[in-house]
Amino acid sequence: MNQPRILDGKSVAAAVLDECRNEVSQLLAKGITPGLAVVLIGEDPASQVYVGSKVRTCGELGIFSRKETLPSTTTQDELIKLVQELNADPSVHGILVQSPPPKHIDEEAVIRAIDPRKDVDGFHPENVAKLALEDPSGFVPCTPAGCMKLLEVSGINTNGAEAVVIGRSMIVGKPMALLLVSKSANATVTIAHSRSKDLPAICRRADIVIAAVGRPDMVKADWVKPGAVVIDVGINRVEDSSKKSGFRLTGDVDFKDVAPHCAAITPVPGGVGPMTIAMLMKNTLQAARQQAGL
Ligand code: GUN
Repeated sequence: MNQPRILDGKSVAAAVLDECRNEVSQLLAKGITPGLAVVLIGEDPASQVYVGSKVRTCGELGIFSRKETLPSTTTQDELIKLVQELNADPSVHGILVQSPPPKHIDEEAVIRAIDPRKDVDGFHPENVAKLALEDPSGFVPCTPAGCMKLLEVSGINTNGAEAVVIGRSMIVGKPMALLLVSKSANATVTIAHSRSKDLPAICRRADIVIAAVGRPDMVKADWVKPGAVVIDVGINRVEDSSKKSGFRLTGDVDFKDVAPHCAAITPVPGGVGPMTIAMLMKNTLQAARQQAGL
């Protein structure tokens, strides 16, 4: 049995955050305090945890944060009004509305209401287009950007590699595929999803597998080519009565089963998760710089 490299997102994220800390002091010296507004609607426990980490990380770096917690009964109009207020607030350079919102909210309309210059999630159509165009003035969605950074720092060559992205979401799958196929990465990319015929066979072609479906432990050993690199984006809560919380976190990849077959793999937690937050901080600093005309 092979011992794979464990791609330690926590330590790579810490290095990215150190760079951010430096940049924050440079901005402060110019009289600019970078600011991020985080909007949470409703009581989804996982979203509460993510929003908490985002706000806490801002504090650790000296980024101003404004947290807006709205009840699940908030109307679409009320939410859009808040977004417009944040668009107009000069102390806020980045705006993030935590996904998923309650079902009665039209998420697409809310994203379109965000000023694309403040859209640090990179979800606004203008930023989606810039990603497709490889225009670096846009914002790249944080999770796929974090996966790319982790691959790059780990010295994993994407040039000419076969990459399979499982999942076609606008948050991860689609932007991930665009990044991998871009002229700076040059991978050959397949996007697979729940309707793909023979998902295991498609996955077995990959030198690099990115699993982003939200299904606990879906990717098994016989899905993975020996020596492949596996990036697990999933953060799933599964019941576990032996834990105080009543649940444990697991990825989309059955880690124990898959790890012995691959060259490198990300753990859950401690893989992609911390990278997402680090890239959000980077995007917030990019927004602050751009809005200051730097
Ligand atoms: N929910 C899960 N991932 C994300 C993300 O990157 N941004 C936002 N806004 N919501 C999310």
